[in-house]
Amino acid sequence: MSMINLPLDLITLLRTAKHVAVMTGAGISAESGIPTFREAQTGLWARYDPQELATPQAFVKNPRLVWEWYAWRRELVSAAQPNAGHLALVEMAQYVPHFTLITQNVDGLHQLAGSTDVIELHGNLHRTKCFREETVIDEWVDTGEVPPRCPRCGDRLRPDVVWFGEALPRAALQAASDAAMTCEVFFSIGTSALVEPAASLARMAMHHGAKVIEINPVATPLTSMATYALQAPAGRVLPELVRAVWL
Ligand code: OAD
Repeated sequence: MSMINLPLDLITLLRTAKHVAVMTGAGISAESGIPTFREAQTGLWARYDPQELATPQAFVKNPRLVWEWYAWRRELVSAAQPNAGHLALVEMAQYVPHFTLITQNVDGLHQLAGSTDVIELHGNLHRTKCFREETVIDEWVDTGEVPPRCPRCGDRLRPDVVWFGEALPRAALQAASDAAMTCEVFFSIGTSALVEPAASLARMAMHHGAKVIEINPVATPLTSMATYALQAPAGRVLPELVRAVWL
């Protein structure tokens, strides 16, 4: 028995859609125990100052603090498992002829759940790159120095995530924009829809004629514009949606 009221025309829309694009944010991983950013009390940005931790200037000023904060987040994520929401998106990809998954998350949980070709707009916590050359580095010698040094040029290593003030990876943003402009249905799941340019993808999809479905227990700036707003946790609503539409 369904606990969430899924409109019949939403079910029909998804059943016949040939291209579905999904964009996720921190909320999809919340039920895996990973803190979001902007929620009062529990969000990371309620407890930590992004200017001190998530900017290139912060890294130059205090590289050790920044490296260790990301190492802590990497440990949190490494102890976490994908939840029912991540798994439902793996299933959805099997039923939709053309499916694009875009994420703002850096936790790698979509891939761990089994999603492939994930477009990562903000990088990945598990990857490291050189601060100067921006080359991805897989191995380095552990001398005890924190952060460690790039084996190629000797500069400091940093997490391969996008910080405030930095550009998004060009290929990822292009692929995400292409999907937004060509999909018939665009999902915005577990994101506060406040951070640009990611937030503008839903609007872009809308302007190109896509129906927009938001999944978020609370309202966001996108809610009033969305074709459907399902106000429930992603781990609850996504499995029900997949069951109702395709099974
Ligand atoms: P936010 O923390 O801004 O928003 C998380 C959203 O998830 C909120 O709107 C919550 O209501 C919602 N939420 C919480 N639990 C949920 C659940 N179980 N199911 C569905 N939704 C739920 O996170 P993002 O929008 O992802 O950037 O933040 C965007 C970017 O800002 C992040 O990628 C990060 C951050 O600074 C970088 O690190 C570059």
